[in-house]
Amino acid sequence: MKNLISFLCFILIAGQSVFAQFSREAMDSLNRLTEKDHRNMLEQLHINSLRPGANGNNPTAPNAANYDEAKANPYPSLPDPLTLNNGKRVTSAQMWWEKRRPEIIEDFDREIYGRVPKDTPKVSWEIIQIKNDTVGNIPVITKILIGHVDNSAYPTISVDIQLSLTTLAQITTPVPVIMEFGFKFPKGFALPSPAQTAKEPDWQQQVLEKGWGFAILYPYSVQADHGAGLTQGVIGITNKGQFRKPDDWGALRAWAWGASRALDYFETDKTVNAKQVGIEGHSRFGKAALVTMAYDTRFAIAFISSSGEGGAKLHRRNFGELVENVAGTGEYHWMAGNFIKYAGPLTPKDLPVDAHELIALCAPRPVFISGGEKGDAWVDSRGMFMATVHAGAVYKLLGKKGLETDIYPPVGTALLEGDLAFRQHTGGHTPAPNWPTFIEFASRYLKTSK
Ligand code: GCU
Repeated sequence: MKNLISFLCFILIAGQSVFAQFSREAMDSLNRLTEKDHRNMLEQLHINSLRPGANGNNPTAPNAANYDEAKANPYPSLPDPLTLNNGKRVTSAQMWWEKRRPEIIEDFDREIYGRVPKDTPKVSWEIIQIKNDTVGNIPVITKILIGHVDNSAYPTISVDIQLSLTTLAQITTPVPVIMEFGFKFPKGFALPSPAQTAKEPDWQQQVLEKGWGFAILYPYSVQADHGAGLTQGVIGITNKGQFRKPDDWGALRAWAWGASRALDYFETDKTVNAKQVGIEGHSRFGKAALVTMAYDTRFAIAFISSSGEGGAKLHRRNFGELVENVAGTGEYHWMAGNFIKYAGPLTPKDLPVDAHELIALCAPRPVFISGGEKGDAWVDSRGMFMATVHAGAVYKLLGKKGLETDIYPPVGTALLEGDLAFRQHTGGHTPAPNWPTFIEFASRYLKTSK
């Protein structure tokens, strides 16, 4: 039931209302527990009140989301990814790896996404099914896996990570794999499919046509998508069912941790070239994909779709969703408790780091940042572009190329010159129209074994 509810929360947030038949009582109790957890964190932080988030639904509301570029940059100066906390300039790759990168990670850990505990539970992977199948008439083999999370530290919670891996039926050498953070729909339901702007095959088929495999990891099997779930899931196992401390990990890091455990499995699977595994995610899972890529340097490439606030968009922007939204009861569980401070008494200007430095943590590995146009203003594509531009300095220091321009491209134009890539597609809140562009970009890095 819990999974259904968290899924329902997601759907409601995403503006759909097809799930009205789920019990009101279950929703109410979940909301009560979430509010209790949020209040507990405010008490730990000695905060009495927060600024409200932007209202994305009512343009005449006093706190209506801003979509006027002239008002979008109240805090134009960004922290410098290449200046150490002691004011010294970072002038070599060695200084980046040994001094500056750890400083940036410490800030993201403490203030934004939370710390992954030192001793996270072991995961043992079990293949529960291997099936021959087809994807768009292409013969494939799919492995269905469960990652059993060791819960001996707190046996009342069990976590079984759900993962699938699909490769071409006839492969003779290990292949690159693109892993997606997948949405799982309750039986009998499916999201209304987003308006396709082109008649492309599904992303899975596009990936297979390159000779690569694909994997799908279900983040909600690692950690629920609501504040009530913070005493459960893998966070609950490590907290032993207690409330989080302000710098404990949130759901984004827990989902990213799950992706890293999946990569551990790929390192043992002879069909996978584990040095060529990419990560992709959309929206909240776009945030999770960027966090995965930033923290786990084993991931080779990333496709970050419509990640917005809490993902690739600069926190210092005032356009669409704001820090204040993510600090509220519906979304704070994605982040460290400390992040809430920046919605009152502090402001986004006080954040020690910003999204350009999260992208910079991915350097020198290739990252494609994606957003949509119609109906996707909430994610602030320009704010994500700006963060990508400013991450470029670190790519350059490491001998790679950033976006190679700071001029915002017309919608539909792909910037693919560098190791950071960007495209705002003409579709809505979906990665679909950007898959062919991502695959073109990724083809420069991933070896096709066909
Ligand atoms: C909401 C939320 C976004 C999130 C999105 C999603 O719109 O405000 O931050 O990315 O849900 O995951 O669909």
